[in-house]
Amino acid sequence: MLLGVNIDHIAFLREARRTNDPNPLEALCILKKCAVSQVTIHLREDRRHIHDEDLFEIVKTAYMPVNLECSLNDEMIDIALKAKPTRVTLVPEKREEVTTEGGLDVKRYFDKLTLVCKKFKEAGIDVSLFIDPNLEIVNLSNDLGVKWIELHTGKYADIYAMLNTNLRQTHNSVKSLELSSEKLNVLLEKSLKELIRAAHEAHKLGLLVAAGHGLNYYNVKNIAEIEEIKELNIGQSIIARSLFWGLEEAITKMQEQLKTSR
Ligand code: PXP
Repeated sequence: MLLGVNIDHIAFLREARRTNDPNPLEALCILKKCAVSQVTIHLREDRRHIHDEDLFEIVKTAYMPVNLECSLNDEMIDIALKAKPTRVTLVPEKREEVTTEGGLDVKRYFDKLTLVCKKFKEAGIDVSLFIDPNLEIVNLSNDLGVKWIELHTGKYADIYAMLNTNLRQTHNSVKSLELSSEKLNVLLEKSLKELIRAAHEAHKLGLLVAAGHGLNYYNVKNIAEIEEIKELNIGQSIIARSLFWGLEEAITKMQEQLKTSR
């Protein structure tokens, strides 16, 4: 299983004081030492964590594949074309959201995506679409000729958290606080099945399948066991744990979780 480490949250900490510490670039040598498969960053339209300079420096100095997440906004597409990361993962983006909620609406933006995917193809940049685990969307993504899809695991992670922690907070994708453990177990199984079916369909079509969002040391095993999923992109849980364990140990422990699951 390939692991992409998302380092946005290092930049988040820097932005809390608008200083230059911690510098996300410093993470690169640790990622390299841990032999992760790529560094993932999200250049958000509001630049709330990663900045343009970070992106260009990371592409220049990472010496590993760079996976840039960005929205379909024209400015973002132009920057991505200039920065030339290895891969661009197109994600939906709303300014008021805390993190990426839900997958890309491939149906609605099909025409725009056709144009954008063509531009990236011509520039030699791989494209991935961050999508909900839905068969119709998987097929539409394939029609766009992209190399990768990344399945949104947020719903699964939300249900898992509601079931396994006493933090019965309202999660983004599961609104009701009244659900019994029994009902949550049914919903968890259902969300896993959706991911398995979507991964299977995508693989059958010849797409490479990644997954991510909300994955942590506890909930990752079920996802890592899905045969057709080749890569996981994980950020928040690794960076959070690195405060206590250090980044190298946080990555290594996640890699151990991924190894034991197949
Ligand atoms: N994959 C994509 C496409 C994302 O947008 C994010 C969040 O930036 C992640 C993976 C990582 O999610 P998390 O920080 O919850 O591990």
